[in-house]
Amino acid sequence: MPETGETERKMSIKLNEKFTKGFVSECDIKAITPEIEKALETVKSGTGEGSDFLGWLTRPEDYDREEYARVKAAAEKIRNTCDVFIVIGIGGSYLGARSAIEFVKGNKYNTLRGDAPEIYFSGNDISATSVAELLEICEGKDVCINVVSKSGTTTEPAVAFRIFRGLLEKKYGVEGARERIFVTTDKCRGKLKEFSDKNGYETFVVPDDIGGRYSVLTPVGLLPIAVAGIDTDAMLKGAADAMKTYGAADIASNSCLRYAAIRNILYRGGKTMEILAAYEPSMQMFCEWWKQLYGESEGKDTKGIFPASVIFSTDLHSLGQYIQQGLRNLFETVIDIKNSNDKIAVPDDPENVDGLNFLSGKELNEINHSAMTATLYAHFDGGVPNMVLEIPDRSAYTYGELVYFFELACGVSGYTLGVNPFNQPGVEAYKKNMFALLGKPDPSLDELKAKLAERMSEK
Ligand code: PA5
Repeated sequence: MPETGETERKMSIKLNEKFTKGFVSECDIKAITPEIEKALETVKSGTGEGSDFLGWLTRPEDYDREEYARVKAAAEKIRNTCDVFIVIGIGGSYLGARSAIEFVKGNKYNTLRGDAPEIYFSGNDISATSVAELLEICEGKDVCINVVSKSGTTTEPAVAFRIFRGLLEKKYGVEGARERIFVTTDKCRGKLKEFSDKNGYETFVVPDDIGGRYSVLTPVGLLPIAVAGIDTDAMLKGAADAMKTYGAADIASNSCLRYAAIRNILYRGGKTMEILAAYEPSMQMFCEWWKQLYGESEGKDTKGIFPASVIFSTDLHSLGQYIQQGLRNLFETVIDIKNSNDKIAVPDDPENVDGLNFLSGKELNEINHSAMTATLYAHFDGGVPNMVLEIPDRSAYTYGELVYFFELACGVSGYTLGVNPFNQPGVEAYKKNMFALLGKPDPSLDELKAKLAERMSEK
């Protein structure tokens, strides 16, 4: 996608509410407006629960310029010294970077990357196969790694870091590996920071006041994004413009606040699941990022909209059936990308074997758009309200804008729902069980170990 001149562009996300008619009225919006305005005020004034984690709110403008220059310099060094760049992290420590790279560069980035390194993500599962495959990919190639972990002790990335650090030390020696390991972690706390300082790795900071899922516009996301050759200045500018526009409390013209309002109105009316839909496969990881943002922020205290996602038209041939006729507890938010640089027309077939010559010469973009319009009417008629978020393109600027739009809407929406949108206490439950099962030497786990052993022996 072209990046030229995009830092000059104006705010460009539009919320089309046509397909919410009959489900959400202006009267409903009017009724919820005081709650939304109060929630926005709570976010902006930092007076709500979780207010220690509001650094993302002003981050697009309020960041350490010196560190940002180091991020760019490190990205350049990585681009010049490796064929394969491995980003090790899980959850908020990798989803942002991956979503941005695929959003802007496409999901075939590793094949079409030009002279940039291949970029892989590891430490976000515990699959021996995925590690073995990546080790095979690294054979005969120059490798750099970026381990991203705020705590430094999350099992999945910590295990992957052991493995790939070992690979680098074997390949380049301890000294050589030092030049190829980049660490993004807490400013001063934690074992990873200690270990990095001891070994002389270059480190970047996961800010104290920004949780993982809100961290893509910090070094967590910006280093890998810059390695992919994406214009991070444009991305920050998009977010900074969004910050000014959506921070203004006029719900009549503020699509971010209206999105937060409408999803809460629908939820209160029994629509407990939101499906983010896009008609572009390169949006798949963006949907994953969005799911983490909303799932971790809102799903607690036995409340919350369940965030799901689909890529159409492929999923119209699978989940489409459920959406059309299944349980009516759904609503959709559709991302409509207005412009694509790629123009491909349907070829004519003199024999018209498939009977599709009425499409000859038509652009795929136009057909894709017709699929979207057709689906909007079909799902709406089937009892599924749809919001449509129109975005101009898949540029870095638009990515920054969209990220800020969803982050702010999430904070506002979470407070309107009555939860703390900035913590994730539920994530700990599986970790405790897993550590107990794996025999972590920790006296506080002894009781749990015994209980689990008993439960597992039951038929
Ligand atoms: O959003 C979050 O806070 C989580 O998804 C974390 O990013 C994830 O658990 C990884 O944690 P850490 O960066 O401490 O390894």
